[in-house]
Amino acid sequence: MGSLTAEKEKLALGEEWSEEAIIYVNGVRRVLPDGLAHLTLLQYLREIGLTGTKLGCGEGGCGACTVMVSSYERHMKKSMHFAINACLAPLYSVEGMHIITVEGIGNCQRGLHPVQESLAQAHGSQCGFCTPGFVMSMYTLLRSNKQQPSEEQIEENLAGNLCRCTGYRPIVDAFRVFAKTDDSLYTNSTSASTSKGETICPSTGKPCLCGKDKVSSSTSSVVACGKKHQSVSFSEIDGNAYTDKELIFPPELRLRNIMPLSLHGFGGIKWYRPLRLQHVLDLWSCYPEAKLVVGNTEVGIETKFKKAQYKVLISVTHVAELNVLNVKDEGMEIGASVRLTQLQEILRKVTAERPCHETSSCTAMLEQLKWFAGKQIRNVASVGGNICTASPISDLNPLWMASGAKFQIVNCKGNIRTVLAKDFFLGYRKVDLQHDEILLSILLPWTRPFEFVKEFKQAHRREDDIALVNAGMRIWFRKDEGSWMISDISIVYGGVAAVSLTASKTETFLIGNKWDMKLLEDALSVLKEDICLAHDAPGGMIEFRKSLTLSFFYKFFMWVTHEMNQKGAFKEGVHATQLSAIQRYARPTSDGNQSYELVRHGTAVGLPMAHLSSKLQVTGGAEYTDDTPTPPHTLHAALLLSKRAHARILSIDDSFAKSSPGFVGLFLSRDIPGSNKIGTIVHDEELFASEIVTCVGQVVGIVVADTHENAKAASDKVNIEYKDLPAILSIREAIKSCSFHPNTERCLVKGDVKWCFDSGICDRIAEGEVQVGGQEHFYLEPHSSLVWTVDSGNEVHMLSSTQAPYAHQIFVALVLDLPLSKVVCKTKRIGGGFGGKETRSCFVAAAASVASYHLRRPVKIVLDRDVDMMITGQRHSFLGKYKVGYTNDGKILALDLELYNNAGNSLDLSLSVLERAMFHSENVYDIPHIKVRGQVCYTNFPSNTAFRGFGGPQGMLIAENWIQRIAVDLHKIPEEIRELNFHNEGSVLHYGQLLQNCTLRQVWDELKASCDFLKARESVSHFNLQNRWKKRGIAMVPTKFGISFTAKHMNQAGALVHVYTDGTVLVTHGGVEMGQGLHTKIAQIAASSFNIPLSSVFVSETSTDKVPNSSPTAASANSDMYGAAVLDACEQIKARMQPIASRNKESSFAEVARACYMERIDLSAHGFYITPDIGFDWKVGKGTAFNYYTYGAAFAEVEIDTLTGDFHTRVADIVMDLGHSLNPAIDIGQIEGAFIQGIGWIALEELKWGDADHKWIRPGNLYTCGPGTYKIPSVNDIPLKFKVSLLKGVPNPRAIHSSKAVGEPPFFLASAVLFAIKDAIIAARAEEGHFDWFPLDNPATPERIRMACIDSITKHFASPNYHPKLSV
Ligand SMILES: Cc1cc2nc3c(=O)[nH]c(=O)nc-3n(C[C@H](O)[C@H](O)[C@H](O)COP(=O)(O)OP(=O)(O)OC[C@H]3O[C@@H](n4cnc5c(N)ncnc54)[C@H](O)[C@@H]3O)c2cc1C
Ligand code: FES
Ligand code: FES
Repeated sequence: MGSLTAEKEKLALGEEWSEEAIIYVNGVRRVLPDGLAHLTLLQYLREIGLTGTKLGCGEGGCGACTVMVSSYERHMKKSMHFAINACLAPLYSVEGMHIITVEGIGNCQRGLHPVQESLAQAHGSQCGFCTPGFVMSMYTLLRSNKQQPSEEQIEENLAGNLCRCTGYRPIVDAFRVFAKTDDSLYTNSTSASTSKGETICPSTGKPCLCGKDKVSSSTSSVVACGKKHQSVSFSEIDGNAYTDKELIFPPELRLRNIMPLSLHGFGGIKWYRPLRLQHVLDLWSCYPEAKLVVGNTEVGIETKFKKAQYKVLISVTHVAELNVLNVKDEGMEIGASVRLTQLQEILRKVTAERPCHETSSCTAMLEQLKWFAGKQIRNVASVGGNICTASPISDLNPLWMASGAKFQIVNCKGNIRTVLAKDFFLGYRKVDLQHDEILLSILLPWTRPFEFVKEFKQAHRREDDIALVNAGMRIWFRKDEGSWMISDISIVYGGVAAVSLTASKTETFLIGNKWDMKLLEDALSVLKEDICLAHDAPGGMIEFRKSLTLSFFYKFFMWVTHEMNQKGAFKEGVHATQLSAIQRYARPTSDGNQSYELVRHGTAVGLPMAHLSSKLQVTGGAEYTDDTPTPPHTLHAALLLSKRAHARILSIDDSFAKSSPGFVGLFLSRDIPGSNKIGTIVHDEELFASEIVTCVGQVVGIVVADTHENAKAASDKVNIEYKDLPAILSIREAIKSCSFHPNTERCLVKGDVKWCFDSGICDRIAEGEVQVGGQEHFYLEPHSSLVWTVDSGNEVHMLSSTQAPYAHQIFVALVLDLPLSKVVCKTKRIGGGFGGKETRSCFVAAAASVASYHLRRPVKIVLDRDVDMMITGQRHSFLGKYKVGYTNDGKILALDLELYNNAGNSLDLSLSVLERAMFHSENVYDIPHIKVRGQVCYTNFPSNTAFRGFGGPQGMLIAENWIQRIAVDLHKIPEEIRELNFHNEGSVLHYGQLLQNCTLRQVWDELKASCDFLKARESVSHFNLQNRWKKRGIAMVPTKFGISFTAKHMNQAGALVHVYTDGTVLVTHGGVEMGQGLHTKIAQIAASSFNIPLSSVFVSETSTDKVPNSSPTAASANSDMYGAAVLDACEQIKARMQPIASRNKESSFAEVARACYMERIDLSAHGFYITPDIGFDWKVGKGTAFNYYTYGAAFAEVEIDTLTGDFHTRVADIVMDLGHSLNPAIDIGQIEGAFIQGIGWIALEELKWGDADHKWIRPGNLYTCGPGTYKIPSVNDIPLKFKVSLLKGVPNPRAIHSSKAVGEPPFFLASAVLFAIKDAIIAARAEEGHFDWFPLDNPATPERIRMACIDSITKHFASPNYHPKLSV
């Protein structure tokens, strides 16, 4: 910076600029020192110890970092509250504001806030990592609303918060108690009927009006719940009436004048916050390279993920001239810094107040903003920020352009010019702003009579997702000689080019014409040529995106026709069935219903107890690995990763890294003291790649620095030179090149398939292929480990976020060449695992241990979300090739099946996953002749791994595909084929196991009655007849899931139980608490065993030095196994206490324990359990693979928009047999969570890898590596009616207290949604005369749904057999 700039800056800054930055955090005043401009609010909060606010993604996509920010608005004389993502908020952007975090509203010592209390009691927190974010979103809604929010508002408000565990239903129910309700929905029952806790809702834990069904203290009773809850009273005073401890807005901040700020940050960053436009312009002229920033939702992403570096940041949030909101004669003037939620408010106001014909643009804007990001983003993101980013998929820019908006631009000299929005966007992220200009404001003109504006958007996920294609369209009619002619029209698309694109040829073609069906046909033909997308355009999905452009116009045509007809201008309106093209999606609130039998056993077993850590989780007090206070001198690590799919490493140059700030060390393969060869079953991986890399994201080394950011920066500076080698990037390529992991060929045979096919007894034979997509775990807590050495490296200890502490112990011991006895791994809880932290967490900890070992300092490693997603493996994609023979009645006689899974570059658990897929490949169907062969494919992707269901869902999904195909071939409904082929009690499975205690038909019949299947079929058919462009579909799908590890030796469990002299009990066992409520169930078992209250039992962290050699927490069997081990320990202690207890019959447990102590009786025991009578021999392909089976069935009803591929689930009804549930509330939570996760797998979550079908992605790279591109279900994706019932009166003789395992079995039931979607598509295709069978891969994204709904639009772009691309 020259001296001239310094001089100018001095002038620009003048006297009044302040370097004093003050914020309040949870009521405590904090002076922010200068030099922190590089920090986000989240980093700051966590650094000052407020670790309740979590880092889930760092890109505004998950809501785990939600906090409430309050600022005092002088002109309104009140404080305003809004929820924001702390991960994107620059620290200084909240200067002068009050930040309230989850710790600030309640805690376990002072008491919980009602929002926290309700969530804890309602089972709305499982792993708890997302929980503080939900709490803060809800809390802010209450404080920012003058009135109680409606239920719709609550659901809408939670769209920016993701939860991977609960399935959202309990969260919504927990928060619904704060909603404004229709009193008539509630009975008049008051606390009188809820006294003595007898009608505490077993599902939500809140007082509930479940009427006659009460929790009984007797051994068994039936509970049905799901009616609305009683609302909590609300005070209007700033929402702060829930407790007298509510934090108020700090008086100092109310009185204090906001000052312009001039501050700095690490690396020479300058941060300015001017208050007046003149100051902005002066600074702008001093620093032409400066970056304006408002919400930082774009700039933050650029700096974090695209490595952009901005040295001068000018925050224009507080500049009055940029915040104008004026209603003028010619339209609305909107300042460039106006936030999107402010824009929504004013738009709502003007649409309510002004004549309807004037506000068509405003309505379109409002509708579009509904689907624009989540609330937290809209609260900070600005109108100007969106415009000036000029993203080709901006949701608003097509609307500004179509509406004829004008942009006011001001330059450094204060000169203002106006440019039409349609002329403003010049190219990819390029706008008509000179280097000395900024956007001042936008003028949105009122619409005229007979002028209509409409918005369109289609994304992967409806809520909080960026568009695949969007559009803004406007038309204006004038009457000419009695006819209505098109006087003006604008058609603008986003998502089809590098810039928002006007369909100019189509516009020209249309102007001056009459708006009729003939014109529509011609216009579509012109439009088709007008909007061109290259076959290799970034983003792919070309045929779909092109179809959308026409579909949108078709919808626009129908809508305009309808509007003109409604106004009496057109005689003819839209035919009733065609109206379905234009009905707006409006989501009513969801409704949950749960029903189960309570079978109580002792003091606690069988009761719907809340998760033991729930109170800690809702208050932010629960510690995860990254929250644990670090030991002194802790260093931070980042992995050095391969950028090539398959290559030889030629050289590694670390010279630039070494001079990077804070750098401490780089460790490569040569630095590993022990073995570099690692692996779960076979040692086929290298901890640090030494010569060859075999996938993008493979670890080459680890960089350590003083901070996480510095470690990442240094690792970016390590330069690796490669020589590329051929890479295998799909299952098909692997099969073609015989690229399989060694010794992974498997075969199961029953009967004689060949004979059956040759004999001619099959009336029909069908052959086909099924592709099954993979899935990212997306646990909210990323992989993390803290490793430190003891006694100069003689021992190593670690805290790890893992499902397998024992495996961490093994890996670390191996790479450091230490005996297992000197390595300890502890895990208190993890923020979700789902299989993703079963084996793939090990190498992360092992890598950190190498650095810690060499440096003799603690090393912490926390993976960024994108790295985590890229390198730690996913659910295996599969390819199934089937040949199935059956009779004309639908009885299946023979199945010949080949299964291939995509293992990636190491074996990991892939063989076991394949084996389970093979075991489950007949799902629930009794087929006399079966042959199933399988093989594990080697590909150049990161190693795939365990994921809930462990191959079972893939095998069953392939099965349901051929079932569905048989049904189509025979013109029957699939449910009929299913029923006809069900297994029965005593069936012998294709691997020789005898089916015992089979409750399949009971489950099925109960579901059929519950969903009233025949009536549902009738009503769906009726709907489909009446609606051309919306179709509904239904399906019922069963499941049978085998419980046990298929590796026999893993079916063992240990536990340690101590009884203390105060009568409390400490339990440690080998299982990990990852949200599934394992510790709660274990505590219930111990409490019931000792006949003491649950509160007397504490389950401590999992630790390899307490219980050795534990299997990973996986395979759903942990409450069975650890429960039995704990019971064994309790029984041993009880037996020792018995003589004393029998002498002291009236004494309490504590008194007996004390008496035992005085008698020198050992009150500690180790318990052990092995699952009996199991074992499978692959050599003969026969055996008892599983201890028992968990059965279930689900019904789903969906509705699709055939023009866009949009869908939603209207109904999900699930029945499961869980024996006598140990804790029905937790089990219901597992079912709901698994089902919603399953919906993600079958309908939303698409992994896009750089492969032959996705050439626009670099080979071997993962494109979908964050919540921005990878969409897991959000709260608005849950079924509108969501019913879960547990089968009653079915004790399971094979597991503890007659219970059954639950974690994985319900996952597959979500396939009912996939087959319901397919059913709806069948109805759509029938409209066009297509009755043939067609494939539908999972996930059934809008692309797959739309392209399968063949019509005159899709035919322009794809053949009827078109099969959208999928990475498998
Ligand atoms: C999780 C997430 C979800 C999102 N969802 C959507 C979505 O659904 N639809 C969509 O369209 N976008 C979406 N976005 C993109 C982004 O939120 C919007 O573009 C937002 O409006 C940007 O506003 P901002 O104030 O945060 O911009 P900032 O990041 O502060 O600034 C963005 C750019 O605008 C420039 N700028 C700001 N004000 C001016 C001015 N007055 N004059 C000149 N230049 C200026 C800045 O210098 C910068 O280059 C999403 C982003 C995230 C992180
Ligand atoms: S961490 Fe901030 S939104 Fe995910
Ligand atoms: S409880 Fe929501 S992510 Fe685990």
